[in-house]
Amino acid sequence: MHHFDKDFNLKKELIHVNHAAVAPWPVCTQNAVKAFAEENTTQGSLNYLQWIEQEASLKILLKQLINADSVDEIALLKSTSEALSVVAYGIDWQAGDTVITSAEEFPSNRLLWLSLEQFGVNVKLISYQSHEDAEQKIIDACDDTTRLISISAVQYASGRKMNLKRIGTHCEQKNILFCVDAIQQLGALEFDVNEIKADFVAADGHKWMLGPEGLALFYCRSKHIEMLKLNQYGWHMIEQMHDFNSTDTTPAKSARRFECGSPNTMGIVALRQSINLLLSTGMDQVEKAVLKNTRFLLEAFSNNDKLEILSSTDVDKLSAIVVVRHKEKNNDELFEYLKNNHVLCAPRGGGIRFSPHYYTPEETLQKLVNLLKF
Ligand SMILES: Cc1ncc(COP(=O)(O)O)c(C=O)c1O
Repeated sequence: MHHFDKDFNLKKELIHVNHAAVAPWPVCTQNAVKAFAEENTTQGSLNYLQWIEQEASLKILLKQLINADSVDEIALLKSTSEALSVVAYGIDWQAGDTVITSAEEFPSNRLLWLSLEQFGVNVKLISYQSHEDAEQKIIDACDDTTRLISISAVQYASGRKMNLKRIGTHCEQKNILFCVDAIQQLGALEFDVNEIKADFVAADGHKWMLGPEGLALFYCRSKHIEMLKLNQYGWHMIEQMHDFNSTDTTPAKSARRFECGSPNTMGIVALRQSINLLLSTGMDQVEKAVLKNTRFLLEAFSNNDKLEILSSTDVDKLSAIVVVRHKEKNNDELFEYLKNNHVLCAPRGGGIRFSPHYYTPEETLQKLVNLLKF
């Protein structure tokens, strides 16, 4: 029996099933941020070189988390939206190019592409019902004009885990760029950028990676780093970043070229601890525990005939997200009732979305199940 919750310190009465929104921090992260605050207060940046080491160390951990070939393919940006924007506004679009995404995407990964219509880019928004073969629908929507497909690894509202390898393999064969919003998967389920053949990956750290808001991973496959047009400029992104007198504006060869100014050191200190915890627990163990929790909720909810499960139940589409609707209570009423009973969750996807993480104890889930029996 694992006691993963020993690394967390949530209030006893709280039923935190909202990692698909904003996660709590582990205790090790709290301690690291406290120590960093103490350090800043008492000695400022005396040990700035150690801060740079932390940044380098976080990139190594992120490389490991996604199985990238090199840390040079990783940039630390401020949000998923910013990372996706680096891609969308970095490509030299031609009028008539097509982008394919899903109608169910979170706005960051939908509105962004629609905004490219100003350059003559056509956007196809693919919708699919839960029983449909979403990957095939996406593949079938491709034609000679398709330049890029952007899709979430796990859909935020339906919890559907996509078969990214299938889409990525098609993209590779047809020379289509493949962009993945991985925020609902990284830190919860195993992820391998090479297996799925992604060209770009974006994910903020504040959900399953258990970090604070405002620090995101951007992965850019090395062969595309120089292809993306740069829309921001600053000292930190220059190849010779330490030569302050230089007039050479050549950007870094690595993905550091996408980081124009000073790093978010406080975020780095925090996220590094959180990811270190996940990796030292082992992402295989994390994934196993996450799916066990999902199955527990699905099983319990399917035994409650007042509830309708709206999220994916197919074994190969399971994620850490479960969405249900009550047949007699509307969502606002149900959400209010849950909130009053210390359940932290979110109204999404036409129901209430529950998203426990690997450490959430079964007894906490059982309390939630009991609260829904009325
Ligand atoms: C699929 C998906 N993408 C992106 C985001 C948020 O993006 P950002 O990091 O830009 O705030 C969310 C948050 O709910 C999400 O669910």
